[in-house]
Amino acid sequence: MRLISWLGLLILSTAVSAQNQTAPEQTAEQLATVCAACHGIDGNSATTIWPKLAGQNAEYLIRQTQMVRDGQRSVPEMLGIVAALSDQDIVKVSEYFADQAIKPGVADEELVALGKSIYQSGLPEQGVPACQACHGPVGYGNPLAQYPRVSGQHADYTVSRLKRYRDGNTNGDQDAYSTQMVLVAENLGDHEIEAVSSYLEGLYDQR
Ligand code: HEC
Ligand code: HEC
Repeated sequence: MRLISWLGLLILSTAVSAQNQTAPEQTAEQLATVCAACHGIDGNSATTIWPKLAGQNAEYLIRQTQMVRDGQRSVPEMLGIVAALSDQDIVKVSEYFADQAIKPGVADEELVALGKSIYQSGLPEQGVPACQACHGPVGYGNPLAQYPRVSGQHADYTVSRLKRYRDGNTNGDQDAYSTQMVLVAENLGDHEIEAVSSYLEGLYDQR
């Protein structure tokens, strides 16, 4: 009996000292401070070519951050920052940004009608599908299907991302998600990309 409790104590003290040797776990807020330089501490980036992360689906944020870390999505600005993050850290920081409120933007009045019509109905003669079929009527996306939220996003970022999809830029041939967006974007013209991006920046509600 005494031997067993002595052994138990030994195991316990070994476990405690092993834990003390590893770096202390970082909180979500601590992890987010390094992202804040570009994405804002509340996930609303000040620079419009950098995406807002606030209110984005956690599942999408997790997957994209992992792809950047693993070199599957090329974001040179982020490489040194995410290289050492564990999957657990990525989940934590993604949930933190998903919980932040996205700051609404404003659509350009002159582009909103065309943008809305592309978003809701696509351009059937040009082979462009309706965006809302996947991203939803108010642009929330669908977390289970890895469809990102697109409403409230900076138009400058959305334009740049859509043009890269149009150019065939994927996260690898095996990546079904980015490949889908290449098929969506390949028949969009510059003016149409600008219109739908502007419409999306102004599309938001309370979430
Ligand atoms: C030095 C600037 C910088 C820092 C710091 C940074 N990022 Fe980024 N991040 C970017 C840029 C630039 C892009 C957009 C790349 C593009 O246009 O495709 C991006 C894109 C992303 C995306 C994809 C968003 C989307 O809508 O597809 C996620 C997710 C992301 N960053 C998460 C993070 C997290 C988490 C951190 C902190 C651990 C972080 N970033 C730190 C610059 C940065
Ligand atoms: C068949 C479903 C589908 C349709 C239709 C669709 N999308 Fe997407 N969209 C996706 C998926 C999946 C992704 C994630 C791709 C990735 O991981 O790179 C995505 C990503 C995006 C992104 C990148 C978001 C970010 O934060 O980086 C934008 C912008 C976008 N879509 C806009 C549009 C627009 C505009 C349309 C209509 C012209 C459209 N989508 C139609 C499925 C779709």
